[in-house]
Amino acid sequence: MRDDASLAGAKLHYHALGVEWGPSPQGGKGGSLMSRSFSSDPQQPADATSLAASRLLYRWQAPVYDQTRWFFLRGRSAAVRMLELQAGEHALEVGCGTGSNLLALRRLVGDAGTVQGLDSSPHMLAQARGKLVRRGLANVELHEGDAGHFDLGRPLDAILYSYSLSMIPAWRTSLAAARRHLAPGGRLVIVDFGDLRGCGIVRRLLLRWLRAHHVESQRPYAEALGEIFGTTAVETRQGTAGWYFLARCRTPRR
Ligand SMILES: C[S@@+](CC[C@H](N)C(=O)[O-])C[C@H]1O[C@@H](n2cnc3c(N)ncnc32)[C@H](O)[C@@H]1O
Repeated sequence: MRDDASLAGAKLHYHALGVEWGPSPQGGKGGSLMSRSFSSDPQQPADATSLAASRLLYRWQAPVYDQTRWFFLRGRSAAVRMLELQAGEHALEVGCGTGSNLLALRRLVGDAGTVQGLDSSPHMLAQARGKLVRRGLANVELHEGDAGHFDLGRPLDAILYSYSLSMIPAWRTSLAAARRHLAPGGRLVIVDFGDLRGCGIVRRLLLRWLRAHHVESQRPYAEALGEIFGTTAVETRQGTAGWYFLARCRTPRR
């Protein structure tokens, strides 16, 4: 598969198994934007299994994803607002899926900014690519790869994880990589399933359902963010019934 989809200036940029297809934003054949660490890490066989399982899940779910998830994935618009994006800024969504948030990010950064989306599922990215091409959006790049270990080789103003962190096996190293990418004054926002404490007797069922979909909602995300960004740089809040949580971290201004 080669991705040379490009319509009205849309820049779609693809990687698979560490190999890059399509034009690089810097010109030439590319290879500069992303580390080649897509494939499984031999040190972490369980992670590799889990990554493969989520890719398989989305192979079948991608075509119906937008129609079936809107009810569950709450707080996404709030998360985008919390990024406080300005025109001309550079934004990334980690685990961008079918690209709904990418459209919102692109609206906010405008023509002068850039948006990148990273995802491990080629089927989800294909859906995102369709949306971008249909709208003829420029300055949006898609990368296929494992968000546990990424290096896009350029500083970013804002990074979003929208219901993706809980699916990333190497989530701590992913957050550390995100922190390294953030420019001074940069923002990282996470929205994901919360502790579901207000969900009463269905809580256990919900947690089981999430696990079956490779979602680990009970990890110590807030603590990890405090370790990586410093506790004073992290704000968190819970949505109704603990259904979701929002977290925002900032890097110091110079
Ligand atoms: C629940 S979907 C969320 C999609 C989108 N962010 C949204 O809000 O609709 C989770 C996404 O994370 C991606 N994902 C899961 N594990 C990943 C990993 N290790 N690296 C990159 N993407 C991953 C999945 O392929 C999927 O597209």
